[in-house]
Amino acid sequence: MKNIYDLPTPALVIDAAALEKNLATMAAALPGSRLRPHVKAHKCTELAKRQRAHGHTTFACATMREVLGMAAAGLGDDLLLANEVLDASPLSGIDARVTLAVDSDETVVAAANAGIREVLIDVNVGLPRCGCPPKKAGRLADFARSRGLTVRGVMGYEGHAVTIKNRFVRRLLCAWSMRTLRRAHADVGGDTVSAGGTGTYAHNDTATEIQAGSYALMDNAYAKYGFPFERAAFVLATVISTNGHYAVANAGLKCFGMDHGKPTIDNGRVWIVSDEHTTFTSRAKTYVGDLVRLWPSHIDPTVAYHERAFVIDGENVVDEWPIDLRGW
Ligand SMILES: Cc1ncc(COP(=O)(O)O)c(C=O)c1O
Repeated sequence: MKNIYDLPTPALVIDAAALEKNLATMAAALPGSRLRPHVKAHKCTELAKRQRAHGHTTFACATMREVLGMAAAGLGDDLLLANEVLDASPLSGIDARVTLAVDSDETVVAAANAGIREVLIDVNVGLPRCGCPPKKAGRLADFARSRGLTVRGVMGYEGHAVTIKNRFVRRLLCAWSMRTLRRAHADVGGDTVSAGGTGTYAHNDTATEIQAGSYALMDNAYAKYGFPFERAAFVLATVISTNGHYAVANAGLKCFGMDHGKPTIDNGRVWIVSDEHTTFTSRAKTYVGDLVRLWPSHIDPTVAYHERAFVIDGENVVDEWPIDLRGW
């Protein structure tokens, strides 16, 4: 069995115990199909299999690659491509139940042309991203039905609310968005109301299913919120240079999604992150060759930089999981 000290660095590392705890905690809060885990946050079919072992058989995807990879891994019971596509032909005839999010006539036509049978009407509930205007949702559902598609219901991602630190404001924005989604749902019909994320999983009481993803591995940004999930992934790096004032580790911008801030280090402070380096100060004496754990601030884009993740139990490396859903 390999030890963490044997790993090539930089390396994405997942703490098996922390992951397991996060999965169990969420499965207790949102059992079975109440949670539709979003695989964009980990892009790893091995991790998705652990989510399935906790009772979740429905998944959300953000890219065609994620849908195809999940289907190929035997995880295609019920896959939602929670994103708009104008050419769905790669999904034609795959061995999976696939539902597409649609927010325009064009995306409805793309679904129908590819032989997709089921769609969700994606409604804009306040996030300046995809989703049709709420008032147009009913008409779009009628159009989809006229093209032979089954409309399972609505989707409306309140992404502008999930990242609000103030719990009260977050709850308020979520409630506001869900009121919009409920109204659109009344015009659309169907059984499904798909929404939510890690930031709102506990107070979205409108959605029939919550599309949370980050809860599994977590990151610095979400760790500040006081959710019952802990950070389960870090980038292991080696100190390659020191000068008595600061130290430099061999993991940089090409290892971390930085849109939610720099990675952090225990007992120290990260100063600069450049292409291949992180410069930091530490309260502990640091030597060339030391291993350090750098904690990502945004897990989704961080994972997408890595080809594989090493799974550890304490300091033992117990598994190696391909990040096999990378790409588009
Ligand atoms: C469509 C959609 N649903 C749900 C989520 C929730 O993800 P998370 O749990 O990581 O906040 C996201 C994240 O960006 C998303 O794009």
